[in-house]
Amino acid sequence: MKILDESLLDFAHRHAVDFLSALPERHVGSRASREELLAALGVPLSDEGEVPGAVLDSLAGQAERGAVAMAGPRYFGFVIGGAMPVTVAADWMTSAWDQNCGIFVTSPIVSVAEEVASGWILDLLGLPTTGSVGFVTGCQMANFTCLAAARNAVLRSAGWNVEESGLVGAPRVNIVVSAEAHVTIHTSLRMLGFGTQSMIEVATDEQGRMLADELARVVENLSGPTIICAQAGNVNTGAVDPLRRMAEIAREREAWLHVDGAFGLWAAASADRKHLVDGAERADSWATDAHKWLNVPFDSGLAITRHPSAHRAAMSVKAEYIEHTAGAERDPFEYTPEFSRRARGIPLYAALRTLGRRGVEEMIDRGCARARQFAELLSRDPRVKVLNDVVLNQVLVRFDDSDAATREVITRVQRDGTCWLGGTTWHGIVAMRISVSHWATSEEDVERSVAAILRT
Ligand SMILES: Cc1ncc(COP(=O)(O)O)c(C=O)c1O
Repeated sequence: MKILDESLLDFAHRHAVDFLSALPERHVGSRASREELLAALGVPLSDEGEVPGAVLDSLAGQAERGAVAMAGPRYFGFVIGGAMPVTVAADWMTSAWDQNCGIFVTSPIVSVAEEVASGWILDLLGLPTTGSVGFVTGCQMANFTCLAAARNAVLRSAGWNVEESGLVGAPRVNIVVSAEAHVTIHTSLRMLGFGTQSMIEVATDEQGRMLADELARVVENLSGPTIICAQAGNVNTGAVDPLRRMAEIAREREAWLHVDGAFGLWAAASADRKHLVDGAERADSWATDAHKWLNVPFDSGLAITRHPSAHRAAMSVKAEYIEHTAGAERDPFEYTPEFSRRARGIPLYAALRTLGRRGVEEMIDRGCARARQFAELLSRDPRVKVLNDVVLNQVLVRFDDSDAATREVITRVQRDGTCWLGGTTWHGIVAMRISVSHWATSEEDVERSVAAILRT
């Protein structure tokens, strides 16, 4: 068996080039049904195996219709970034290296690249330089990791050691969330032993920002260990909670303040937008994504805390056979729920070093400018109403002030294929969601997409 099969890598390269070069003009959504894909891919597992090139061919043959062009510039669904060329290339190298980067000993290069990238991220986001960073799969696991550190730290302050004693018999923890908290806050808390019913919800304003006075009123009546979850970037409107005021309230109450900033936290990297996340740096932990607005390939999220020892205490593992570092070296698994994992910090390192400060800032500003362009062009049409203040990269749109019409437009746009966007319910009414997270979306892409939306 050969370790290196160059022809196979060339083959994969060819397929990747074909896929990527078709992206700008292809139908953006998927056009294959489950049945079609099953007919093509659902072959019986053979006894002897198949020729690898034929397997790649079979997969690539289905990607044209069965994959979604979310790596392209006119995909505006959910909050999904693309992948900059250097990050795709670095990701290939990551696969070729196949590093298990749990500890320094298993991959010094990854440990150091992640250590360096951690410093850059803290700096770009304006967070404490002594903070800790874990490279997780996405913002859900970032929320989970940060909230695990939060749970254990607030209970430790109340005299309870979760790492040793678990949760049975532990003091009650007050969990304060926004009525607009992202679902992954709920999922993360559930995985950490807090049922959704145990969460205290604080009302929000019309843009989805937590009402700070309401938060102050809620926490006044609480005693005991408390975690407050803030949000930087509402998944529908992009709105950011009043973080500075929330941080003051949390500090007075000695509560742990966590910020879910999957995409919105990146506003900190832009001189024109960092006022939106003013006060974020005063929180105790922050969850964000690199696979959204930083445009590195999936899966890449960041769990950041002000308290490295709490972070490590919640995540680290001890076993006789594991050679922990004794010096300044970083064992990456001390900051993530995973034990073995992909070296996802490598593409992230490549993205940051290639972009530099200015490049990151321009990417964020570009996304915001294109979102405003969408809002301006669409709102010229009397049938269209923009429902949110477009502060970041999110736009909410409604057609003919009608749920049915709005749903119909979304369906037709998806069928048309010029661009792809989805729907949501906002304050009880149906809306189209437009999220501009791709690094390469141009003014012309927005014009073409607006024309397609209005045409349908
Ligand atoms: C505010 C917010 N938090 C968390 C998430 C979850 O992120 P991920 O899909 O990377 O787990 C999202 C996803 O859109 C989000 O918008």
